[in-house]
Amino acid sequence: MINLVLILKNKKTRLPVSSGWVVFIKLQNTIKEVKGQNILTPAAIMTTHTKYELGFFPTPLQELKNFSALFQNDYQIFIKRDDHTGLATGGNKTRKLEYLLGEAMLQGADSIITAGAQQSNHCRQTAAACAQAGLTCHLLLGGDPPDEYNGNLLLSGMLGANIHFTGKQRKGEDLEMLAKQLKEKGLRPYIIPYGGSNLTGAMGYVEAAGELKDQLQRASLKMDYIFFASSSGGMQAGLILGMAMHGLSSKLMPVQIDKDETQEISLQASVAAIVRDGFSALELKGPVDTAQTHTIRGYEEAGYGVVTHQEKEAITTLARSEGIILDPVYTGRAFYGMMDHLRTRRIKPGANVLFWHTGGIPANFHYAEDLAKPGLGFGV
Ligand SMILES: Cc1ncc(COP(=O)(O)O)c(C=O)c1O
Repeated sequence: MINLVLILKNKKTRLPVSSGWVVFIKLQNTIKEVKGQNILTPAAIMTTHTKYELGFFPTPLQELKNFSALFQNDYQIFIKRDDHTGLATGGNKTRKLEYLLGEAMLQGADSIITAGAQQSNHCRQTAAACAQAGLTCHLLLGGDPPDEYNGNLLLSGMLGANIHFTGKQRKGEDLEMLAKQLKEKGLRPYIIPYGGSNLTGAMGYVEAAGELKDQLQRASLKMDYIFFASSSGGMQAGLILGMAMHGLSSKLMPVQIDKDETQEISLQASVAAIVRDGFSALELKGPVDTAQTHTIRGYEEAGYGVVTHQEKEAITTLARSEGIILDPVYTGRAFYGMMDHLRTRRIKPGANVLFWHTGGIPANFHYAEDLAKPGLGFGV
């Protein structure tokens, strides 16, 4: 038995789906039918999205007391542990994949195609999600076949993904071409865009904003700032929508990770497009706060996946003060951005600050040599 969860406007309904059911689902304004015998109530026909459960939620919200002490306790600093979402060492893509696979399964897909860098956390989690859901996984990974499989690439292979190396195309330029080839073979592929970033994927973070709101309410807390790594933009867009939906007023501090555009579209434009779609699909009251689509720049200059003193300092500081591991590509960069803002008092003392940990742990093993290089403060 598979559990699909129908999202009925703001409410959730759990639906046990087995063969022999008919489910009518409203997906992006079209009513779709899933083969079977029973018919759901009209309320279910109002459904906007469907999810396939993959992760462990809610993820912990934890106070960083030792790390806060490094800033003379001028700030109360917390961390949201989306490195604990489950799914083959966790990460932020688990939340997106619940919605993306929900949609794929309703469409009757038998295979999933997605794309990323060789050390893509998104691709590794997609491979794990497919293994769990019994779907065939195809990954289009930039670059040439490496001499050694390690980090996320090793795990993607272990999880049974079919890996296609795509040279200079590292952001999903060949997704449609592969889908066409699979269709010609009689398969039913479903394309997940680069980073899982479209409105369907972003729904994971619309829901996450509600999860955070519940945790804050229970702890009688309010967050003034939320720092996180933003790269393909789905998490940022989902949080903007989710905060509008759930009435959270924290200031989002998305640290931009990649200086390159995705298929000639800037990160800010990608976020804005998803937010615009989401405002109308979720019937949220506008106007859209366009300031929230901005990203914090200046920490991405070295380029995507280039490990500098910034990421090393962030990783070692959090590891040695709190025993929590960041990653060298995304969370290390974003955490350094947060440390820099705190150190230079660009955040006003007295503020409550949240860092949203988005996973990425396996990449540390790929970058082990860079991370451990002597003379760069790594204690070697
Ligand atoms: C560990 C980690 N953090 C953050 C992000 C950025 O999330 P998004 O692509 O939704 O902007 C990614 C994207 O791959 C990631 O792997």
